[in-house]
Amino acid sequence: MGTPILEKISLIPGKTSKMVLDAPEIAAKAKPGHFVMLRMDAAGERIPLTIADADPEKGQITIVYLVLGKSTALLEALNQGDEILDVCGPLGRPTKIEKTGTVICVGGGTGIAAMHHIAKGHSRIGNHVVGLIGARSKDLLLFEDELRSFANELLISTDDGSYGEKGLVTKLLKDRLEKDKNVTEVVAVGPVPMMEAVTAVCKEFNTPVTVSLNPIMVDGIGMCGACRVSVDGKTKFACVDGPEFDGHKVDFAELRRRLGAFKKQEKTSYDKYLEGVSHG
Ligand SMILES: Cc1cc2nc3c(=O)[nH]c(=O)nc-3n(C[C@H](O)[C@H](O)[C@H](O)COP(=O)(O)OP(=O)(O)OC[C@H]3O[C@@H](n4cnc5c(N)ncnc54)[C@H](O)[C@@H]3O)c2cc1C
Ligand code: FES
Repeated sequence: MGTPILEKISLIPGKTSKMVLDAPEIAAKAKPGHFVMLRMDAAGERIPLTIADADPEKGQITIVYLVLGKSTALLEALNQGDEILDVCGPLGRPTKIEKTGTVICVGGGTGIAAMHHIAKGHSRIGNHVVGLIGARSKDLLLFEDELRSFANELLISTDDGSYGEKGLVTKLLKDRLEKDKNVTEVVAVGPVPMMEAVTAVCKEFNTPVTVSLNPIMVDGIGMCGACRVSVDGKTKFACVDGPEFDGHKVDFAELRRRLGAFKKQEKTSYDKYLEGVSHG
């Protein structure tokens, strides 16, 4: 039996959706930072998605995904009332959440949803949470209302200036770190160039930064080696040692190279899928 989809909401039509899944065993153990591996068909690959929220009482978890290629398109083809073939988790190490003071949680693109769960954890423990979220334009911003419901402050930037401050989210971060010397930690979840840029800003101010890495994952349980990343000169597997690491120690250049390694195969697979869909 698969995992039932209780609710599906389109956040950015055709691009990003949120699903609430009936997964009591996962919800009972899910903590901020955890992810699940999903498989949409028996012959297909497994893909990792962060648990964006969990409600152990209702036995529900929330996932938010960007439609990028074949597997996320197969997921997007499912609707409320359908079942996802396999949902395995929670996987990875949960976020280290300690009461430290002021924590800035930075989210970019779909990463805002994952960051939201981490920020909620910091808020629950009593940290002063400053959310910084950025997107290319207003219509691509996610989870603003959810973050407003618990964050002590929420600052927004858009690249085109259609909402919040014009520019990149790293500008908001730099301005804040210049003014506020009480920030104890920064957490960043989003595209790799954004997490790399956040880390560079934190370096200027000597501020600790945690980033959530998203290398290719195949099994998600430490057996295949696909998610290899270099942290502090040592090989780590993001699925079992992460996905969160000290940003100052991550080899971002290697991560970028490895993420691009299968672009051609991924495009072929997605094109074949779209061809199949258009031919009914
Ligand atoms: C720990 C973790 C958590 C993630 N959480 C989210 C999330 O909450 N929401 C979200 O939208 N995306 C998330 N991702 C990325 C997501 O897994 C990929 O977007 C997805 O696998 C794309 O698959 P596809 O077949 O649709 O696209 P493809 O065309 O196969 O790939 C498009 C791009 O997605 C990435 N990707 C492809 N396959 C994998 C894979 N097996 N593992 C990891 N990355 C892959 C690569 O960068 C690739 O270039 C997460 C990744 C990791 C590692
Ligand atoms: S995904 Fe296989 S070792 Fe991490």
